[in-house]
Amino acid sequence: MADKLIIFDTTLRDGEQSPGASMTRDEKLRIARQLERLKVDVIEAGFAASSNGDFECVQAIARAIKDSTVCSLARTNDRDIARAAEALKDAARARIHTFIATSPLHMEKKLRMSPDEVLEQARLAVRFARNQLDDVEFSAEDGYRSEMDFLARICEVAINEGATTINIPDTVGYAIPELYGHFLKTLREKVPNSDKAVWSVHCHNDLGMAVANSLAGVKIGGARQIECTINGLGERAGNCSLEEVVMAVKTRRDFFGLDVGIDATQIVPASKMVSHTTGFVVQPNKAVVGANAFAHASGIHQDGVLKARDTYEIMRAEDVGWSTNKIVLGKLSGRSAFKQRLQELGVMPDSESEVLAAFAKFKELADRKSDIFDEDILALVNDESVTAEKEQYGFVSLTQHSETGERPYAEVVFTIDEKEFKGVSDGNGPVDASLKAIESHVKSGAELLLYSVNAITSGSTESQGEVTVRLQNAGRVVNGVGADPDIVVASAKAYLSALNKLHSKAERVAAQG
Ligand code: KIV
Ligand code: ZN
Repeated sequence: MADKLIIFDTTLRDGEQSPGASMTRDEKLRIARQLERLKVDVIEAGFAASSNGDFECVQAIARAIKDSTVCSLARTNDRDIARAAEALKDAARARIHTFIATSPLHMEKKLRMSPDEVLEQARLAVRFARNQLDDVEFSAEDGYRSEMDFLARICEVAINEGATTINIPDTVGYAIPELYGHFLKTLREKVPNSDKAVWSVHCHNDLGMAVANSLAGVKIGGARQIECTINGLGERAGNCSLEEVVMAVKTRRDFFGLDVGIDATQIVPASKMVSHTTGFVVQPNKAVVGANAFAHASGIHQDGVLKARDTYEIMRAEDVGWSTNKIVLGKLSGRSAFKQRLQELGVMPDSESEVLAAFAKFKELADRKSDIFDEDILALVNDESVTAEKEQYGFVSLTQHSETGERPYAEVVFTIDEKEFKGVSDGNGPVDASLKAIESHVKSGAELLLYSVNAITSGSTESQGEVTVRLQNAGRVVNGVGADPDIVVASAKAYLSALNKLHSKAERVAAQG
């Protein structure tokens, strides 16, 4: 039997550290459920000690998830570890992930600790964590830039104290595949009790090599756990992307000879959910989950694929969860057909009230758009207005006028804490006028950092537009997303969604601060 490769997803912890990607408790819970459907082995749900909000998220996920191990990050101190254990106490399977930096640069400049002090702190932390739980991961932050003998010593100590997984992050994305693979191999050879733990890789993507480095860590270095995020979400250039690394191991099983437990048909729904929730748009040419990943535009390729798919396709689109873009529902479809489609797509909400809210939105959409595709349904269930959480700002209606040679103007009706308000403004274009109309009343003073529009389904002007708006205010960066067949309405929805995030409190301690 082949070895198993453990997939550890950190979208909700390291991914969320990306500026603007912060998520609410309900959003995290929804993504955690999708990760469970995807069958990831470990879900890193957050950093419980960083804020009360993060504690509650880890706790809610620990209570809801049954099939994956739920994990919380903790620094190597008793308070952090006790908070993590407390948040995880109702989990079916739980892991504490404790970390401390081990590179000379981080120890001296960031921690201001000597190597001996770091070693001692790691020893006590792993011991304390093992007194709380059986499943303990130890990470040597900036491990790849650490001095080999010191790193080997601290890993040996962590394993002696009962760490069951040892993770060697390339925290700053500095590694090169071959070098990283050999680094891990040498390290494991130097650690006398290395066979008592699972070795793990955690690579950042600053040089675009996070996936390649992780795979080298597995193939050359003997790692059996990969830490990754959906869509490669993460600070700076992001983390190792789950979809790419998983499909590499599955597609090239002949080379890696490893089993992964992931249900690949849930990859695209997970990618869309994370992109919609965070407002981080997936680039069209991104492997596996990009809109063009399976599109054959050239005549030669199309001809080849029609004759035999494997002439130009190494994976099948449907195997990673792409639907065939067929019309699935329309105006006359009833609630049971809608529910059945949610089931088939694997995105059935947990509560009947969310199903009803999504169905009401579906009916509204079907009145305005004749053909409803799977992508439209995924956008509906990802829409924050159908989720249980009550938002402060809500969209009601929009009127706008634009005419060649005239300055456009817009009137937007929206709610603040369920009370209706109307904002009116002119602007350079209808979108500008609509956002200014909202701002004329809200006066958030936020700076617009990014505005982007994407078609939810390709190939038709009838498609819904999905708008992302990124706002910055008082040092906080947030993304809002809105979808509608009318892109001006989608823009107003996205702006209100960003305001909701801007005004929610999310102060927390940064993991690597
Ligand atoms: O990149 C890193 O070093 C981390 C650790 C906290 C595991 O995310
Ligand atoms: Zn990281």
